Amino acid sequence: MGRIPQHFIDELIARADIVEVIGARVQLKKSGREFKACCPFHNEKTPSFWVSPDKQFYHCFGCGKHGTVLGFLMDHDHMAFPEAVEELATRLGLEVPHEGGADAGPRRADEPLYELMARVAKFYAEALAREPRARDYAARRGLTAATVERFGIGYAPNSWNEVLKRFGGGEAERKRLAEAGLVIERERGQVSGGERYYDRFRDRLMFPIRDARGRVIAFGGRVIDAGEPKYLNSPETVLFHKGRELYALYETRRARTNLTRLVIVEGYMDAVRLHQSGIDYAVATLGTATTAEHLRRIFRVVPAVVFAFDGDRAGRAAAWRALQQALPEAREGRELRFLFLPQGHDPDTLVAEEGREAFEARLADAVPLSEYLVSELSEQSELKSADGRARFAENARPLFTKVPAGVYRELLLERLAEVVGLPPARLEELWHGRAAPAAGPAPAPPPPARVAIGAGRGSLVRQAIVRLLHYPAIAAEVSPAERAGLDASEEPGVALLRELLDNLKATPAQIPAQVIVRWEGREEVESLKKLLDREEVISDAPAAAGELRAALVRLADQAARRRLEALEAKERAGDLSSSEREEFQRLISRLSRREAGGG
Ligand code: CTP
Ligand code: MN
Repeated sequence: MGRIPQHFIDELIARADIVEVIGARVQLKKSGREFKACCPFHNEKTPSFWVSPDKQFYHCFGCGKHGTVLGFLMDHDHMAFPEAVEELATRLGLEVPHEGGADAGPRRADEPLYELMARVAKFYAEALAREPRARDYAARRGLTAATVERFGIGYAPNSWNEVLKRFGGGEAERKRLAEAGLVIERERGQVSGGERYYDRFRDRLMFPIRDARGRVIAFGGRVIDAGEPKYLNSPETVLFHKGRELYALYETRRARTNLTRLVIVEGYMDAVRLHQSGIDYAVATLGTATTAEHLRRIFRVVPAVVFAFDGDRAGRAAAWRALQQALPEAREGRELRFLFLPQGHDPDTLVAEEGREAFEARLADAVPLSEYLVSELSEQSELKSADGRARFAENARPLFTKVPAGVYRELLLERLAEVVGLPPARLEELWHGRAAPAAGPAPAPPPPARVAIGAGRGSLVRQAIVRLLHYPAIAAEVSPAERAGLDASEEPGVALLRELLDNLKATPAQIPAQVIVRWEGREEVESLKKLLDREEVISDAPAAAGELRAALVRLADQAARRRLEALEAKERAGDLSSSEREEFQRLISRLSRREAGGG
């Protein structure tokens, strides 16, 4: 895969205007040198979302989201990094170069695929108009012409090679069709004489699956009337990752600018029919269980979701799986609820039967996650007996531990404790007792989630990184000796500082955002963003350079002092080698020089 060269990303960040890009999506108001708005990533009434044209950086003091213009596009428009790069480049009229050959880059290769998908979707849509059987079926399913149009629903003709013939002019084109999942390649043995490929979708009602930008990335095809399999979906392709995508999310966002919640259903028809009935905030998982990835995407868009499941056994099982995925995403300020439909119904049939208001009343009555958890576990244990309550506690434990620490977790603990009939603290003790059997060793503490930089606010490493981040160009002023002085340091975060310095010396950057994107996708990026958010008092680049170099020198001194102590101990023990003795002398003269000169 061709990488997008660093210099291009730098140029992009330098030329793009974060205010313009965010301003096109969020109503920004000027406030001093910066701009503010109500945060698009969480629900709020007073603005705590700030965009800084100087830093080319945004930050929300409410939810803590922050980043560069590329990060914003990735989060807000749900783009992958290369997509965000492409989007910005297109805006600026630039062509994205790829390292390692003209069409080695993933984007370059994908672009015609999107076009191909769009053309095929159009073909299916036109085919629907021409085929009475399919049109009748759509009408029998209650789909209006407006709905068919809005969702781009189409029909794949009853043919083994219609798509192949129309879109597979040459071998290269046929390969593209196969890559897009539209045709299937025959096994070698079966090819003799005939065509190597055949159409994947035949005689089916076609639901185009669109990404966040509305581009068709896959299809779901339903048999007309009855047949097996009832639904046939595109395979995983470069464009389509089932566990990530939500059907009708694009249509939902297009229908509503002020989305506050989503309903998650299981089927294409369910989502489409809900939209048609005015519940235009329904999305569907694509024949898979709800994944953690789905939920993360959803909570970037809205703070509240209701899962709607069929009332049958399969629906209950699916709901329980969804709950397990949802627990790690549960927290204060988010709402997760479950709606169970009457036996024999799915959202499609129910909304058709009782209409929007009745369905919305059901949504309003949906059960909160915590209550669903309690009721499901209660059914598994006889709560009247002490044994039953103990079993409840035992079953609740692995679920409870999935919930991240915070207010929500505390409330859930209280609720569970209430059911068990113990004070919350006792219940937790009980659970902990189980986790660490008296004889065995205590479990190791989990590794810290973030890379800690420096010991505290004022740590030298931190001071240095902050200055480099705000004024990346000052890296050029650090002398080789000053840089080398860092090698001996073992302060927390110093590895990142070294890497940052080396990176910026090798590939200079002019503005903070250029630095941040270079770390995008790495664990340290969060720490870097946090440091950049901080309003540090640094007057200008020359001041920053001076402070940076001072911090580097002090770090080197620190390391030298530490090394000196170690050597002194050896010296006292009388086993200093000759090279160590030399080093010892060097360190002493360095430190005394420093103390005489700098104080
Ligand atoms: N599904 C699938 N493959 C199947 C069956 C189902 O991918 N063979 C997925 C589809 O996304 C489908 C969803 O699971 O929409 C729900 O399946 P089901 O409840 O069986 O279908 P309905 O959505 O009710 O379909 P319809 O109303 O058209 O019968
Ligand atoms: Mn159905």
